[in-house]
Amino acid sequence: MNRNLAMEFVRATEAAAIASARLMGRGNEKAADQAAVDAMRTLLGSIECDATVVIGEGERDEAPMLYIGEKVGTGTGSKLEIALDPLEGTTICAHGGPNSISVMAIGEVGGLLHAPDTYMLKIAAGKEARGLLDIRQTPTENLKRLADAKKCRVNDLTAIILDRPRHKELIEEVRASGARIHLIGDGDVSAAIATATPNSGVDILLGIGGAPEGVIAAAALQCLGGEFQGILKPRNQSEIERARKMGVEDINRVFQINDLARGNLMFCATGVTTGNFLDGVIFKSWGAYTHSLVMRSESGTIRHIRAEHHFDKKPRY
Ligand code: FBP
Repeated sequence: MNRNLAMEFVRATEAAAIASARLMGRGNEKAADQAAVDAMRTLLGSIECDATVVIGEGERDEAPMLYIGEKVGTGTGSKLEIALDPLEGTTICAHGGPNSISVMAIGEVGGLLHAPDTYMLKIAAGKEARGLLDIRQTPTENLKRLADAKKCRVNDLTAIILDRPRHKELIEEVRASGARIHLIGDGDVSAAIATATPNSGVDILLGIGGAPEGVIAAAALQCLGGEFQGILKPRNQSEIERARKMGVEDINRVFQINDLARGNLMFCATGVTTGNFLDGVIFKSWGAYTHSLVMRSESGTIRHIRAEHHFDKKPRY
């Protein structure tokens, strides 16, 4: 995969971030999501590649989407697979909260798990945890293993968990273990990345979130050298059937990071609203500032790109 493609794909997350950021705080999730999808689709169409969306988002919450199986790019050049979420943290953006991003992971053919738009139990942490955690073990056990790996006490660790009723027992167990907890309303891709970001103040992601977001986060953690494991958590028989059709024979299978995202991977994200690792879009009379993260698994390069977009020279804005 041509490494320069990463710099092309970030233009798509930038465009989606700018489009959805216009609608920040307007209370209209669907409009913000649609704006991100439309902008991302337009930009992707101009990138020289023959790519297929293998993970899109939208079916689970009936939101606008770049759908699974959609062909993007000019249709010539490298054959690629893309997992994307044009607006991760739709509700956050609609309310003007922190950590909504536009995000995509790019792999070669066979590089990304083809997962249906269902749920996934996840565990994510930084590079110290690589190969040491086991999602089948209790959160208490995994916190102990992480504390050993980080040479600290469990009560020095902070777990990040989506604030959902389904996590009541998980939260009680983590509290009993002594670890600190950062509860978030949405946005577990950012949360997973935070676990592998030095000085983010977050050590481990635990709990159930979206499966597409799980694959995207796994690609990010491959670039960062972190750890990620997941188990699909379908809500009904039809989601189990869908998973089977997409190649998941054993619905209880533990997906290791290499099962979710492998080989030559690229990851691009642009901040929509300011968060832990990305600043949000700032509009000016002449255009906008964006802040993006571009990473490649092959080189391990992590690039922060701050861009000025001059709208008089970019008629699409
Ligand atoms: P979107 O805004 O992209 O729909 O997802 C937000 C999110 O919080 C994800 O980060 C997370 O994986 C998922 O939703 C959790 O789903 P639910 O809100 O149904 O618990």
